[in-house]
Amino acid sequence: MDSKVLLRHFEQRFGCEGGACYAAPGRINLIGEHTDYNGGYVFPGAVEQCLMAWIRPNGTDSVRLYAVDLGMECEFSIDDPQGPQTVHFRYVYGVVCEMMARGVKVGGFDAVYGGDVPLGAGMSSSAALESCFAYALNELYGGDLDRMELARVGQQTEHKYVGTKCGIMDQFISLHGREGSLVRLDCRSGEYEYFPWQPEGYSLVVVNSCVRHELVGSPYNDRRESCERVAAQAGVETLRNCSWEQLEALKPRLSDEDYRRARYVLGEEDRVLAVCEALKRGDYEEVGRQMYLTHEGLSKDYEVSCAELDFLVEEARRCGVTGARIMGGGFGGCTINLVCDDRREAFLSTVQKSYKARFGVGCKVIPVVIGNGARRVK
Ligand code: GLA
Repeated sequence: MDSKVLLRHFEQRFGCEGGACYAAPGRINLIGEHTDYNGGYVFPGAVEQCLMAWIRPNGTDSVRLYAVDLGMECEFSIDDPQGPQTVHFRYVYGVVCEMMARGVKVGGFDAVYGGDVPLGAGMSSSAALESCFAYALNELYGGDLDRMELARVGQQTEHKYVGTKCGIMDQFISLHGREGSLVRLDCRSGEYEYFPWQPEGYSLVVVNSCVRHELVGSPYNDRRESCERVAAQAGVETLRNCSWEQLEALKPRLSDEDYRRARYVLGEEDRVLAVCEALKRGDYEEVGRQMYLTHEGLSKDYEVSCAELDFLVEEARRCGVTGARIMGGGFGGCTINLVCDDRREAFLSTVQKSYKARFGVGCKVIPVVIGNGARRVK
């Protein structure tokens, strides 16, 4: 989607010029999955694929939206206590409400939006939507919220208006992404550090299983509840503060399921730190090894994989890919692969053929380019 195409749609629909165009990206995550809501570390990067919106205040109390990719429209009043029922539009409605709750004087506006973050692929298309509108409304209505607060606007939107009890990773990176860098965020303290990502001889490739992943109504919230139960029994705020010794001591009092969920999370904390150490040494083979271990944990202990994702990871291993694992919440969506240059061609052609042969549908290969966070485009 480029801004000119959006502007054309905007003019056709609202019959006027003006306004401004904003963009916010989707993301990848190198490692640190399901750790954010446990107060742990994540290691994401923004991608080039963005959600873009052309927005113009209209001087009324009404918000009028048109989602180009879905061919859907919606209108609601900014003081409507219920908001639209269609889930897709509740993302924008939630952002409007959360901005106003933080004192930003949002008025009615017209907006047309669309983008190229694959929907339901685990690349955070919904966070891109929230971050784009949060960033834009803050600027257009003279708000003074910083990027971290704008990320919270998106996260609260998910919690209160959509019903996904997500962590902060997706919205954080959609607002803080930087071209050529991954970011390690400590979700307990909110501190973050940029890591230049130029793995010589390797690249990241996302493979979309095209199994549609929906976190709304998925067992995502159940996973979070398991973690919270274990943390409460250990007497700590989040699993980040739970040691291996504490977990083992608690084991007899935990259900097998809760124990395995927590074991995955503690293991993932260790793996993020191992990856940071490996990156300092330029040891990408070790980074890849940790990624495979993450996949195993996500599949067996955390149980957020599916046959298609397990197949993609196994194929990667067979093709000599350095590291591969589920990316994002799971239950469908993508794998992320760290591929060394001399295996790349063979892997990409093999995986597409064998996936089609096994499941009867194609998977999609998405090369990863690390891009910038939310911004004004025009
Ligand atoms: C989704 C959520 C994030 C995070 C990941 C799993 O993308 O939105 O907050 O929990 O799943 O790492």
